[in-house]
Amino acid sequence: MSYGPLAPIYASLARLYSGGAIPACQRWAVEQISAGSRVLFVGPGPGTDVLDAARRGLQVTAIDCDARMLQTLANRLRHAGLLSRVQLVHADLLQAPTAAYDVVIAQFFLNVFPANHLRQVLTALGGQLGPCGRLIVGDFAALGEGQHPWQRLYHDLPMHLLARFGANAIHPVHDLPRHLQESGFSLRDGRRFRLFGAGPAWVEALVAEAAGP
Ligand SMILES: C[S@@+](CC[C@H](N)C(=O)[O-])C[C@H]1O[C@@H](n2cnc3c(N)ncnc32)[C@H](O)[C@@H]1O
Repeated sequence: MSYGPLAPIYASLARLYSGGAIPACQRWAVEQISAGSRVLFVGPGPGTDVLDAARRGLQVTAIDCDARMLQTLANRLRHAGLLSRVQLVHADLLQAPTAAYDVVIAQFFLNVFPANHLRQVLTALGGQLGPCGRLIVGDFAALGEGQHPWQRLYHDLPMHLLARFGANAIHPVHDLPRHLQESGFSLRDGRRFRLFGAGPAWVEALVAEAAGP
C-alpha cells in the first residue's frame, strides 16, 4: 500500500474535500487530551494533528506504515521546528507490540479496512492503551435514519479513488459506534463536524474507553 505522490498534498485534499471539517475534527480530538499525556497517533498520514499535539507539549508518538506519508510528516515537523518532539515509527499497527498510552488517536484510519477486519484493528488499537486510556477516532459519520442520499456518495467517491492506490478497501460506510461497542469499547463523547462550516454533519469524532471486565 502506498499513497505515493498523493502524500505531500493529502492534507490539502482532505481540507478542501471536507471544507475544513476534517482538520476541525482533528483539532477537536487534540483539544480533548490533558496536558502531559502520552499520545499515540495511528495512521497520522501528513499529521496536521500531530503538529498540533507537539505544539501543545504533549508526549507524541506517531506510527504509520507508509514511508512516503511518514516522510511528509517528518518534513512538516522539521519545517515547524518540532521534529525532535515527536517519535516517528515506520510500522504496521497490526504488528506493533502492545503499549500503555493515555490516548490513542486514529483519524480516518478505520475506513482503510473492510468491516470484517474492524474487530482485529480495534483490538490492536485497544492494545496500545494503558488502564483508563481513551481511544479517539474521527471518520465519515455513520449513515443514520433519514440519511441524505448524497452522504453515501460523499464517502464512496474518495474511497474508490484512493483504492486505486491500494490505500483502502472498498466497503459501505462503517457504523463506528456499533463496531466500537461490539469490540468492547464504551462511548464517552462524540462530536459531529459540518462540511464547509454550515453543510451536513458528515464527519464524526468519537471518544471511547475500553469497557471494564
Ligand atoms: C486515510 S489516511 C488518514 C491520514 C490522517 N490520519 C488523516 O486524518 O488525514 C490513513 C493512514 O493510515 C496509514 N495506515 C494504513 N494502514 C496502516 C497500518 N496497518 N498501520 C499503520 N498505519 C497504517 C496509511 O499509511 C495512512 O497514512
